Amino acid sequence: MEETGQINYIDIFEIKKLLKGSFAGKNLYYEEKVDSTNTLARDLASKGVKNGSVVISDCQEKGRGRNGKFWTSPCGCNIYMSIILRPKFSPEAAQGMTILAAVSVADAIAEVASLKPQIKWPNDILIDSKKVSGILTEMSTQNMNIEYMVVGIGMNVNATGKDMDENIKNIATSLLIESEKANGSNVILDRNRLIASILNKFDKYYEMFLSTGLSSVLVYYQKYFGMMGKTVEINVNDKRVGGQVVGIDSKGALLLKTGENELERVVSGEIYF
Ligand code: BTN
Repeated sequence: MEETGQINYIDIFEIKKLLKGSFAGKNLYYEEKVDSTNTLARDLASKGVKNGSVVISDCQEKGRGRNGKFWTSPCGCNIYMSIILRPKFSPEAAQGMTILAAVSVADAIAEVASLKPQIKWPNDILIDSKKVSGILTEMSTQNMNIEYMVVGIGMNVNATGKDMDENIKNIATSLLIESEKANGSNVILDRNRLIASILNKFDKYYEMFLSTGLSSVLVYYQKYFGMMGKTVEINVNDKRVGGQVVGIDSKGALLLKTGENELERVVSGEIYF
Protein backbone atom coordinates (compact mmCIF):
# COMPACT_ATOMS: atom_id res chain seq x y z
CA MET A 1 0.00 0.00 0.00
CA GLU A 2 1.15 3.51 -0.77
CA GLU A 3 0.27 6.96 0.48
CA THR A 4 -2.17 9.06 -1.54
CA GLY A 5 -0.36 11.09 -4.18
CA GLN A 6 1.85 8.16 -5.08
CA ILE A 7 1.20 6.09 -8.15
CA ASN A 8 0.75 2.36 -7.98
CA TYR A 9 2.13 0.99 -11.26
CA ILE A 10 1.23 -2.41 -12.61
CA ASP A 11 4.40 -4.47 -12.37
CA ILE A 12 4.25 -7.96 -13.85
CA PHE A 13 7.44 -9.05 -12.03
CA GLU A 14 5.82 -8.11 -8.73
CA ILE A 15 2.64 -9.98 -9.72
CA LYS A 16 4.67 -13.07 -10.68
CA LYS A 17 6.41 -13.01 -7.28
CA LEU A 18 3.02 -13.07 -5.57
CA LEU A 19 1.51 -15.89 -7.63
CA LYS A 20 1.24 -19.14 -5.71
CA GLY A 21 -0.32 -21.42 -8.30
CA SER A 22 1.01 -22.82 -11.52
CA PHE A 23 -1.92 -22.12 -13.82
CA ALA A 24 -3.58 -18.69 -14.13
CA GLY A 25 -0.98 -16.05 -14.93
CA LYS A 26 1.97 -18.40 -15.49
CA ASN A 27 2.17 -16.58 -18.84
CA LEU A 28 1.49 -12.87 -18.39
CA TYR A 29 1.08 -10.38 -21.22
CA TYR A 30 1.15 -6.70 -20.29
CA GLU A 31 0.34 -3.71 -22.53
CA GLU A 32 0.22 -0.14 -21.32
CA LYS A 33 -2.84 0.62 -23.48
CA VAL A 34 -5.13 -1.64 -25.51
CA ASP A 35 -8.52 -1.44 -27.20
CA SER A 36 -9.78 -4.20 -24.92
CA THR A 37 -7.89 -6.94 -23.04
CA ASN A 38 -10.65 -9.37 -24.10
CA THR A 39 -10.12 -8.51 -27.76
CA LEU A 40 -6.33 -8.91 -27.43
CA ALA A 41 -6.79 -12.16 -25.46
CA ARG A 42 -9.07 -13.56 -28.19
CA ASP A 43 -6.50 -12.65 -30.79
CA LEU A 44 -3.70 -14.33 -28.81
CA ALA A 45 -5.88 -17.37 -28.10
CA SER A 46 -6.65 -17.82 -31.79
CA LYS A 47 -2.88 -17.76 -32.40
CA GLY A 48 -2.43 -20.60 -29.91
CA VAL A 49 -1.15 -19.10 -26.61
CA LYS A 50 -1.18 -21.39 -23.61
CA ASN A 51 -4.10 -22.36 -21.40
CA GLY A 52 -4.11 -20.08 -18.33
CA SER A 53 -2.34 -17.14 -20.05
CA VAL A 54 -3.41 -13.72 -18.79
CA VAL A 55 -3.55 -10.34 -20.55
CA ILE A 56 -3.36 -7.19 -18.38
CA SER A 57 -3.49 -3.55 -19.38
CA ASP A 58 -3.27 -0.22 -17.58
CA CYS A 59 -6.08 1.24 -19.72
CA GLN A 60 -8.52 0.35 -22.45
CA GLU A 61 -9.77 2.56 -25.26
CA LYS A 62 -12.66 0.32 -26.21
CA GLY A 63 -13.39 -1.58 -22.99
CA ARG A 64 -16.38 -3.87 -23.47
CA GLY A 65 -19.09 -4.70 -20.95
CA ARG A 66 -21.95 -7.18 -21.12
CA ASN A 67 -24.84 -6.69 -23.52
CA GLY A 68 -22.77 -4.52 -25.86
CA LYS A 69 -22.19 -1.83 -23.21
CA PHE A 70 -19.02 0.26 -22.97
CA TRP A 71 -16.74 -0.35 -19.96
CA THR A 72 -15.17 2.90 -18.74
CA SER A 73 -11.43 2.19 -18.50
CA PRO A 74 -9.30 5.17 -17.38
CA CYS A 75 -5.50 4.81 -17.15
CA GLY A 76 -3.42 4.36 -14.02
CA CYS A 77 -6.04 3.38 -11.47
CA ASN A 78 -8.04 0.21 -12.22
CA ILE A 79 -7.66 -3.42 -13.25
CA TYR A 80 -8.42 -4.70 -16.74
CA MET A 81 -7.44 -8.28 -17.34
CA SER A 82 -8.47 -11.36 -19.30
CA ILE A 83 -7.76 -15.02 -18.55
CA ILE A 84 -7.46 -17.37 -21.54
CA LEU A 85 -8.76 -20.90 -21.02
CA ARG A 86 -8.67 -23.97 -23.24
CA PRO A 87 -10.96 -26.27 -21.31
CA LYS A 88 -11.99 -29.80 -22.21
CA PHE A 89 -15.49 -29.43 -20.74
CA SER A 90 -18.61 -28.81 -22.83
CA PRO A 91 -19.89 -25.32 -23.77
CA GLU A 92 -22.87 -25.88 -21.39
CA ALA A 93 -20.46 -26.00 -18.44
CA ALA A 94 -18.85 -22.72 -19.48
CA GLN A 95 -21.18 -20.53 -17.40
CA GLY A 96 -19.38 -21.99 -14.41
CA MET A 97 -16.30 -19.92 -15.31
CA THR A 98 -18.20 -16.70 -14.75
CA ILE A 99 -19.35 -17.91 -11.33
CA LEU A 100 -15.81 -18.97 -10.51
CA ALA A 101 -14.36 -15.60 -11.57
CA ALA A 102 -16.96 -13.75 -9.48
CA VAL A 103 -16.01 -15.64 -6.31
CA SER A 104 -12.30 -15.10 -7.04
CA VAL A 105 -12.83 -11.34 -7.37
CA ALA A 106 -14.96 -11.19 -4.20
CA ASP A 107 -12.36 -13.18 -2.24
CA ALA A 108 -9.56 -10.89 -3.45
CA ILE A 109 -11.49 -7.75 -2.43
CA ALA A 110 -12.13 -9.18 1.04
CA GLU A 111 -8.50 -10.29 1.40
CA VAL A 112 -6.63 -7.26 0.05
CA ALA A 113 -9.04 -4.38 0.70
CA SER A 114 -10.80 -5.80 3.79
CA LEU A 115 -14.17 -4.72 2.37
CA LYS A 116 -17.40 -6.72 2.25
CA PRO A 117 -18.32 -7.46 -1.38
CA GLN A 118 -21.60 -8.95 -2.51
CA ILE A 119 -22.33 -10.80 -5.74
CA LYS A 120 -25.33 -9.80 -7.82
CA TRP A 121 -26.14 -12.86 -9.91
CA PRO A 122 -24.48 -13.94 -12.01
CA ASN A 123 -21.32 -11.89 -11.94
CA ASP A 124 -21.56 -8.29 -10.81
CA ILE A 125 -19.54 -7.51 -7.70
CA LEU A 126 -21.11 -4.82 -5.56
CA ILE A 127 -20.10 -2.96 -2.45
CA ASP A 128 -22.85 -1.16 -0.59
CA SER A 129 -25.16 -1.80 -3.59
CA LYS A 130 -22.83 -0.15 -6.13
CA LYS A 131 -20.90 -2.01 -8.81
CA VAL A 132 -17.15 -2.28 -8.29
CA SER A 133 -16.32 -5.08 -10.71
CA GLY A 134 -17.80 -6.83 -13.74
CA ILE A 135 -16.96 -9.95 -15.73
CA LEU A 136 -17.32 -10.54 -19.46
CA THR A 137 -16.88 -14.17 -20.52
CA GLU A 138 -16.51 -14.94 -24.22
CA MET A 139 -16.03 -18.22 -26.00
CA SER A 140 -15.07 -19.62 -29.38
CA THR A 141 -16.41 -23.07 -30.28
CA GLN A 142 -15.65 -25.53 -33.04
CA ASN A 143 -17.80 -28.60 -33.73
CA MET A 144 -19.59 -28.20 -30.38
CA ASN A 145 -16.26 -28.08 -28.51
CA ILE A 146 -14.73 -25.08 -26.80
CA GLU A 147 -11.73 -23.86 -28.78
CA TYR A 148 -10.94 -21.22 -26.15
CA MET A 149 -12.62 -19.04 -23.54
CA VAL A 150 -11.71 -15.54 -22.40
CA VAL A 151 -12.75 -14.46 -18.92
CA GLY A 152 -12.42 -10.67 -18.77
CA ILE A 153 -12.38 -8.94 -15.39
CA GLY A 154 -12.72 -5.21 -14.86
CA MET A 155 -12.32 -3.78 -11.36
CA ASN A 156 -12.56 -0.16 -10.21
CA VAL A 157 -9.70 0.07 -7.74
CA ASN A 158 -8.35 3.59 -7.22
CA ALA A 159 -10.78 5.46 -9.48
CA THR A 160 -12.33 8.53 -7.92
CA GLY A 161 -15.59 10.24 -8.85
CA LYS A 162 -13.81 12.34 -11.48
CA ASP A 163 -12.61 9.18 -13.28
CA MET A 164 -16.19 8.00 -13.74
CA ASP A 165 -18.62 8.97 -16.50
CA GLU A 166 -21.64 10.97 -15.31
CA ASN A 167 -24.02 8.20 -16.37
CA ILE A 168 -22.42 5.57 -14.09
CA LYS A 169 -21.59 7.68 -11.01
CA ASN A 170 -24.82 6.70 -9.25
CA ILE A 171 -24.41 2.99 -9.82
CA ALA A 172 -20.63 2.45 -9.78
CA THR A 173 -17.97 2.73 -7.11
CA SER A 174 -14.31 1.84 -6.51
CA LEU A 175 -12.39 0.11 -3.73
CA LEU A 176 -10.79 3.44 -2.80
CA ILE A 177 -14.14 5.24 -2.54
CA GLU A 178 -15.55 2.40 -0.42
CA SER A 179 -12.44 2.25 1.83
CA GLU A 180 -12.82 5.96 2.52
CA LYS A 181 -16.49 5.42 3.40
CA ALA A 182 -15.81 2.35 5.56
CA ASN A 183 -12.75 3.47 7.54
CA GLY A 184 -11.74 6.93 6.38
CA SER A 185 -8.70 5.51 4.59
CA ASN A 186 -7.47 7.38 1.53
CA VAL A 187 -4.50 5.05 1.06
CA ILE A 188 -4.47 3.85 -2.53
CA LEU A 189 -4.69 0.13 -3.12
CA ASP A 190 -1.99 -2.05 -4.61
CA ARG A 191 -3.22 -3.33 -7.99
CA ASN A 192 -0.41 -5.90 -8.18
CA ARG A 193 -1.54 -7.55 -4.95
CA LEU A 194 -5.15 -7.49 -6.10
CA ILE A 195 -4.34 -9.04 -9.49
CA ALA A 196 -2.20 -11.76 -7.90
CA SER A 197 -4.88 -12.47 -5.33
CA ILE A 198 -7.60 -12.82 -8.02
CA LEU A 199 -5.37 -15.20 -9.99
CA ASN A 200 -4.43 -17.25 -6.92
CA LYS A 201 -8.12 -17.63 -6.04
CA PHE A 202 -8.98 -18.46 -9.64
CA ASP A 203 -6.38 -21.26 -9.58
CA LYS A 204 -7.92 -22.65 -6.41
CA TYR A 205 -11.51 -22.60 -7.70
CA TYR A 206 -10.58 -23.83 -11.19
CA GLU A 207 -8.91 -26.88 -9.70
CA MET A 208 -11.94 -27.42 -7.46
CA PHE A 209 -14.28 -27.09 -10.47
CA LEU A 210 -12.29 -29.62 -12.51
CA SER A 211 -12.05 -32.15 -9.70
CA THR A 212 -15.46 -31.89 -8.01
CA GLY A 213 -17.67 -29.72 -10.24
CA LEU A 214 -19.43 -26.38 -9.86
CA SER A 215 -21.42 -27.28 -6.73
CA SER A 216 -18.33 -27.15 -4.54
CA VAL A 217 -17.46 -23.67 -5.88
CA LEU A 218 -21.07 -22.55 -5.33
CA VAL A 219 -20.63 -23.12 -1.60
CA TYR A 220 -18.11 -20.25 -1.65
CA TYR A 221 -20.25 -18.17 -4.05
CA GLN A 222 -23.18 -18.36 -1.59
CA LYS A 223 -21.08 -16.51 1.01
CA TYR A 224 -21.31 -13.38 -1.14
CA PHE A 225 -24.71 -13.93 -2.70
CA GLY A 226 -26.79 -11.07 -1.41
CA MET A 227 -30.04 -11.75 -3.24
CA MET A 228 -31.70 -14.63 -1.42
CA GLY A 229 -35.38 -13.91 -0.71
CA LYS A 230 -35.36 -10.63 -2.67
CA THR A 231 -38.09 -9.82 -5.15
CA VAL A 232 -36.52 -9.02 -8.50
CA GLU A 233 -37.30 -8.52 -12.17
CA ILE A 234 -35.09 -10.05 -14.82
CA ASN A 235 -34.83 -9.34 -18.52
CA VAL A 236 -34.72 -12.74 -20.18
CA ASN A 237 -34.58 -12.54 -23.98
CA ASP A 238 -36.40 -9.19 -23.99
CA LYS A 239 -39.10 -10.58 -21.68
CA ARG A 240 -39.45 -9.35 -18.06
CA VAL A 241 -39.79 -12.12 -15.49
CA GLY A 242 -40.62 -11.17 -11.92
CA GLY A 243 -40.33 -13.28 -8.81
CA GLN A 244 -38.63 -14.05 -5.54
CA VAL A 245 -35.06 -15.38 -5.53
CA VAL A 246 -35.10 -18.80 -3.86
CA GLY A 247 -31.66 -20.11 -4.81
CA ILE A 248 -29.05 -21.07 -7.37
CA ASP A 249 -28.99 -24.58 -8.80
CA SER A 250 -25.95 -26.83 -9.28
CA LYS A 251 -25.32 -25.41 -12.78
CA GLY A 252 -25.31 -21.79 -11.57
CA ALA A 253 -28.81 -20.91 -12.85
CA LEU A 254 -30.98 -18.58 -10.76
CA LEU A 255 -34.15 -20.08 -9.28
CA LEU A 256 -37.10 -17.69 -9.14
CA LYS A 257 -40.44 -18.33 -7.48
CA THR A 258 -42.79 -16.71 -9.98
CA GLY A 259 -46.12 -17.90 -8.55
CA GLU A 260 -47.68 -20.00 -5.79
CA ASN A 261 -46.36 -23.28 -7.22
CA GLU A 262 -44.23 -21.97 -10.03
CA LEU A 263 -40.49 -22.00 -10.25
CA GLU A 264 -38.54 -20.46 -13.14
CA ARG A 265 -34.94 -21.44 -13.86
CA VAL A 266 -33.04 -18.50 -15.36
CA VAL A 267 -29.79 -19.30 -17.13
CA SER A 268 -28.82 -15.75 -18.07
CA GLY A 269 -30.32 -12.31 -17.85
CA GLU A 270 -30.04 -8.82 -16.42
CA ILE A 271 -31.49 -8.31 -12.94
CA TYR A 272 -33.43 -5.24 -11.83
CA PHE A 273 -34.19 -4.89 -8.13
C1 BTN B 1 -19.86 -6.03 -17.27
O1 BTN B 1 -20.55 -5.42 -18.10
O2 BTN B 1 -20.19 -6.08 -16.09
C2 BTN B 1 -18.60 -6.71 -17.68
C3 BTN B 1 -17.44 -5.78 -17.73
C4 BTN B 1 -16.14 -6.46 -18.11
C5 BTN B 1 -15.01 -5.48 -18.29
C6 BTN B 1 -13.71 -6.17 -18.48
S1 BTN B 1 -12.33 -5.08 -18.39
C7 BTN B 1 -11.28 -6.33 -18.94
C8 BTN B 1 -12.01 -7.05 -20.05
N1 BTN B 1 -11.81 -6.37 -21.31
C9 BTN B 1 -12.96 -5.85 -21.77
O3 BTN B 1 -13.08 -5.19 -22.82
N2 BTN B 1 -13.96 -6.13 -20.93
C10 BTN B 1 -13.53 -6.91 -19.80
